[in-house]
Amino acid sequence: MLSVDVSKAVSFLSGDYQLGDELKQAANWLQNGGGKGDDFIGWVKLPEAYDKDEFARIEKAAKKIQSDSKALVVIGIGGSYLGARGVIECLGSPNYNLKKKDTPNVYFMGNGLSSAATKEVYDLVKDVDFSVNVISKSGTTTEPAVAFRFFKELLEQKYGKAEAAKRIYATTDKSRGALKSLADAEGYETFVVPDDVGGRYSVLTAVGLLPIAVAGIDINELMGGAADMMKACRTDDFTNPAWEYAAVRNALYRAGKKTELLACFEPSFRFMAEWWKQLYGESEGKDNKGLFPASVDFTADLHSMGQYIQQGERTLLETVVRFDPDDEQMVVPYDDVNGDGLNFLAGKTLHEINTQAMDGTLLAHVEGGVPNMIVRAGKRDARELGALIYFFEYACGLSGYLLGVNPFDQPGVEAYKKNMFALMNKPGYEEMGAELRKKLGK
Ligand code: PA5
Repeated sequence: MLSVDVSKAVSFLSGDYQLGDELKQAANWLQNGGGKGDDFIGWVKLPEAYDKDEFARIEKAAKKIQSDSKALVVIGIGGSYLGARGVIECLGSPNYNLKKKDTPNVYFMGNGLSSAATKEVYDLVKDVDFSVNVISKSGTTTEPAVAFRFFKELLEQKYGKAEAAKRIYATTDKSRGALKSLADAEGYETFVVPDDVGGRYSVLTAVGLLPIAVAGIDINELMGGAADMMKACRTDDFTNPAWEYAAVRNALYRAGKKTELLACFEPSFRFMAEWWKQLYGESEGKDNKGLFPASVDFTADLHSMGQYIQQGERTLLETVVRFDPDDEQMVVPYDDVNGDGLNFLAGKTLHEINTQAMDGTLLAHVEGGVPNMIVRAGKRDARELGALIYFFEYACGLSGYLLGVNPFDQPGVEAYKKNMFALMNKPGYEEMGAELRKKLGK
């Protein structure tokens, strides 16, 4: 079971860091409502209260896609993208698409506006059987809507309109939005993003579950792990790992730390860290407050960001996710010549060496003035990852309430969208567009 070691962080705090009363209030708001944004706390009970019929449909659709497609194009951005990619890369590898396997390749599109990136995936799928999962809660987000146009057109050219419709799966609001209307009109199979679950808390809904299941990952185990953690998070004291993590990161923030680095010594964790950054950044970064969430891949980034972490501005704290060793281990070979002088490592597993790197880094960074928390996440499997996801979500809800913000809105995201629409002359934005062009000197 996941645990959090805060011993190398609390030494940077004086006085009572535990914030027990504030946490009790925050936990009560998460469990029972009454706090800011409480119409978006559906994710708290989701691992138990999810729609079982829809879950069965997700499994069925995943099997169909596995049987009739060599590739799945997953179209979405932000919370409609990062969780699925994080889980697939963490459990299936960042090289998932290159591996020999029985499951389809999974390509993520609609998370930007790059012509090169779109063309690349377009060319990769155009000559193979493929399906599309278009995901947008609002159903109106520009990036995925634009990407969907290309892949919908390609599917229709390839299979004809009727067969293409059978290869398009739309995950969106149950009744509102342009995507829902289109899906109903065209007869796509649809999955629901529940009203009370916001994008960045939606990985355990159809948003994440369909692509994850297509990649051959056991979504029952993922939900089971989340349910285990949900039960642990109901405990209102510091045996609850989410309490411990939320309390210490907030106490450190109050003590002047400004940036939290999420680190992991497994490169496959990289997109889970991207998911975490969105979760914490969008939930807490508002009202001119919040720790800036950043991430580093170790040991690679010890050779780039390591210098700054060790000796730069002392406003950092670090949270390191550690996994138990994978069953299969590479063992360092013995070399007769020993030209590199590394025979003292011969016979050791890479995990043993990685662990010494973790401990050595921990001591160095703490001595350099960076408080460190360790999240021991157990094995890198679907069950433990489900627990880790729920842990981070719950701690994020608690943490946002400790900070005094609404952890479930993202009003700041609208600013760039309005400017972009105005600059593209969207009907209704003409006047604003003229003003902006003037500011740009165009
Ligand atoms: O967390 C959020 O709410 C956002 O990041 C959204 O997920 C993102 O903007 C995509 O929105 P939508 O699913 O409506 O296309």
